[in-house]
Amino acid sequence: MYVCLCHGISDKKIIKLTQQEGITDIRGIRQVTPLGSQCGKCIRQAKTIIEQTLTPS
Ligand code: FES
Repeated sequence: MYVCLCHGISDKKIIKLTQQEGITDIRGIRQVTPLGSQCGKCIRQAKTIIEQTLTPS
């Protein structure tokens, strides 16, 4: 599923960055991808995905 349609960034990509690159917040994602740099609508959803990935289930 695409989170950021403007730049074609998927939830899988965000989860991978969080789990494998040690990124823990939206700023970290934005340092390595252009997520949110166009319309910004994806930021809230991306934050939720990061939080869910970091929360042990
Ligand atoms: Fe991510 Fe527009 S959907 S910047």
